[in-house]
Amino acid sequence: MIDKIKEHIAEVEAFIAKSHDEVETFRIKYLGKKGLLNDFFTEFKNVPNEQKKEFGQTINKLKTVASEKVNQLKAALSNEEEVKGIYGDLTRPGEPIELGSRHPISIVKNKIIDIFSRIGFNVSEGPEIEDDWHNFTALNLPEYHPARDMQDTFFIEKPRTVGADVLLRTHTSSVQVRYMENNEPPIRTISPGRVYRNEAISARSHCFFHQVEGLYVDKGVSFADLKQTLQYFTTEMFGKSKIRLRPSYFPFTEPSAEVDVYWGLETETDYKMTKGTGWLEIMGCGMVDPNVLKNCNIDPEVYSGFAFGMGIDRIALLLHQIPDIRMFSENDVRFLEQFKSL
Ligand code: DAH
Repeated sequence: MIDKIKEHIAEVEAFIAKSHDEVETFRIKYLGKKGLLNDFFTEFKNVPNEQKKEFGQTINKLKTVASEKVNQLKAALSNEEEVKGIYGDLTRPGEPIELGSRHPISIVKNKIIDIFSRIGFNVSEGPEIEDDWHNFTALNLPEYHPARDMQDTFFIEKPRTVGADVLLRTHTSSVQVRYMENNEPPIRTISPGRVYRNEAISARSHCFFHQVEGLYVDKGVSFADLKQTLQYFTTEMFGKSKIRLRPSYFPFTEPSAEVDVYWGLETETDYKMTKGTGWLEIMGCGMVDPNVLKNCNIDPEVYSGFAFGMGIDRIALLLHQIPDIRMFSENDVRFLEQFKSL
């Protein structure tokens, strides 16, 4: 009998449990009212006197070992649950993290920066809240110049002093002025940024959009340099090298031109994009007006330069055939996610 109890002791010591249920079954088996221990205690009276001592000690040992085991297993299981509660199942395989996507405006902007940086243009920026001098006057648009009406302006302050207005810049050409004021030629810079116009919002136009301005000033810069640079750009940007320059007017350039790229008329989309002409207008440009150079303390007798400006939103709309400019600022992930692979 004593040997049998000893076997139980060994069994109890070796026992492991994976759940609270298993611990409870184990407890009932040994320590329950109808458990083995009680059976052994009942047996006690039948044990011959000379064995009573050893018998008693052995059952007591079984009782101690079984109680300790139950306590120990219970504690271990609760601790495990606690850890799982905080960290989840630590053995689960990791979940892949979804890649975010760049905004289509950023994608186009970065591509333009990349193309011009390859031919030595750096990137410059200026403030969106501008003064009259940098947005208009220095660019050969003095007070009451009719060409100011070409761009409907959001004024922040309109003080009495002439030329002291504070406004939201209507174009990134203001950065040209700031850059020339602070840097000596040779200058080769592009200036991307957000601009504002007081216009009714529709599918085709918004009260804010994005432009990239380009400026090149050095000795002996000619219109041929401008044309060559633009052709390089359209080839790299769109894979199209055929361009044409139509005479135009901007107060800050003379002569001025509008740049069209020949897109072709191969697909239905080409027809839509170019309104059946095959040509796509992509930017304005020209030779920097000598007055503008003078306003920025650069001697027009020594230096000449060219400048250009293009709308990033417009290019992004065209390239991706996006039907509504408002989609750029609505933050709808279903729209934005589509640019993931670009
Ligand atoms: N600032 C003009 C606009 O917003 C774009 C532009 C045209 C910029 C000709 C230039 C330029 O630098 O030479 O419509």
